[in-house]
Amino acid sequence: MVKRKVIIDTDPGQDDAVAILLALASPEEIEVLGITVVAGNVPLDLTVKNSLTICELAGAFDMPVYAGCHKPLQRRLITAEHVHGKTGLDGPSLPEPKMQIQAEHAVDFIINTLRAETNKTVTLCPLGPLTNIASAFLKAPDIIEKVQQIVLMGGAYFEVGNITPTAEFNIYVDPEAADIVFKSNLDITVLPLDVTHKALVTKARNDAFRALGTPVGVAVAQMTDFFERFDKEKYGSAGAPLHDPCVTAYLINPDLFVGRHINVMVETASELTMGMTVADWWGVTDRPKNALFIGDLDSEGFFKLLTERLARL
Ligand code: BDR
Ligand code: CA
Repeated sequence: MVKRKVIIDTDPGQDDAVAILLALASPEEIEVLGITVVAGNVPLDLTVKNSLTICELAGAFDMPVYAGCHKPLQRRLITAEHVHGKTGLDGPSLPEPKMQIQAEHAVDFIINTLRAETNKTVTLCPLGPLTNIASAFLKAPDIIEKVQQIVLMGGAYFEVGNITPTAEFNIYVDPEAADIVFKSNLDITVLPLDVTHKALVTKARNDAFRALGTPVGVAVAQMTDFFERFDKEKYGSAGAPLHDPCVTAYLINPDLFVGRHINVMVETASELTMGMTVADWWGVTDRPKNALFIGDLDSEGFFKLLTERLARL
């Protein structure tokens, strides 16, 4: 497995937190160049604070964290406290972070990093609304061709929507940004609700996190304890879906996942279906294939990998 350089773009969020922990626990496969933060699950001041908190929890005191866009490209911010709680990271009680945010804006960090690194050696991993990534592409179009790959959590086809009947949260919050990313002609892998709703933290899986007995294991168990109440009530599912960790698990072991190369377009005009990922899963159009859209995973393998890696922190 070749080690990848990645920029994690995130809006923590309990599941973002687990995704970041998994990446930081996996230095053989993932070199995190920096964490760029965006407004999403909660406003930017809280997603920044939560990102710093998670780095400290992982012992990654030197990880550079950059604050990015505080609102979507063209819309007011929609948040998800109803899922993640008032802080965005409700569940565990973690100390106030002492780490400092970097002075550089997240968008400039993305641009400068892509310009400085060898062409096609940096993978972007968006775990929230795509505002920072699209802003970087708009500000510096020359960087687009330098990106190795985008591996993102967002969208849905068979599962349709979680924030509206037809839209997944990350895409819905900033559909114009998502549209720019999906039209970038880059190599994009999408981890939509279709797969993340199969990455469920059952009681046994959460017990395994808690049984690690470490601050990280206990915090992850407490995060999912909190996070699961919403999905259990809404879907009657067995536990919390670990959306964003599917991205970092995919980077570590893509063989855990299966999907199809298809065309995906984002609805930006209709109020009724705003932010829908129109995924041509059945190949009924001749629109060009622009994404690997993941539909399934080996959930036992995924939780085995996650638990083993979290044990390292
Ligand atoms: C996505 O939205 C957020 O609530 C989660 O962090 C995840 O990135 C799931 O729709
Ligand atoms: Ca997220």
